Amino acid sequence: MTGKLLYEGKAKKIFETDHPYEVEVFYKDDATAFNGEKKGQINSKGILNNAISSLFFELLDTRGIQSHYIKKIDDRRMLVRKLKIIQIEVVVRNIAAGSLSQRLGWPEGKELPGPVVEFYYKDDALGDPLINDYHVAALGLATPDELAFLASQSLKVNEILSGHLLARKVRLVDFKLEYGKSDQDILLGDEISPDTCRFWDSETNQKLDKDRFRRDLGGVEEAYQEMFDRLRG
Ligand code: TMP
Repeated sequence: MTGKLLYEGKAKKIFETDHPYEVEVFYKDDATAFNGEKKGQINSKGILNNAISSLFFELLDTRGIQSHYIKKIDDRRMLVRKLKIIQIEVVVRNIAAGSLSQRLGWPEGKELPGPVVEFYYKDDALGDPLINDYHVAALGLATPDELAFLASQSLKVNEILSGHLLARKVRLVDFKLEYGKSDQDILLGDEISPDTCRFWDSETNQKLDKDRFRRDLGGVEEAYQEMFDRLRG
């Protein structure tokens, strides 16, 4: 039974359950971009992101990556372990796009010689600024060992997802992960979906992710549906 609303974010709501260490995630259709400046709705997004995230978390679990995911409850709801979120967004990039292209002047689509890991300070008021390990230490966001774990774990996720997606004719351009603590364990949290990743068709480079919404490219819902169809197999 769904309990009290604990938190409402831009794309999800978190509800209490009758178990103190578990919460329910409800995936909304609301979409935002540019730190909430652009707002909209994507039909069925919540259903598709819940389904896609569930598939990714299940895949990662079989490959030894622990996450908060326990099970999919229904169309829009997922049961997860309650985490104390670490205020760092970890981005892994394989191909230049988005803010990396802007920052370094690299054209979108340029293959990187190897994956690039970035850390962002999860703080909406500041617009999630890019930070390095010194900032992480100064802000007290994680210990050096914890930060090293976030980076190495995110690179493993990159390996697993990149291979899985390429077999489905999708290039994993980049993605963002969040982690949290459950007792002493650091678990992967949040979601892995077209909201938080860039997916390009491996033959046409067609965008199959939230950039269609951010950049008003049209065919947004269709792109999310296409990703789900390819992952479902
Ligand atoms: P960026 O190129 O805009 O920095 O985005 C890098 C990746 O992170 C991209 O796959 C989208 C994802 N992302 C989020 O999940 N949330 C955000 O708030 C932002 C800015 C990016």
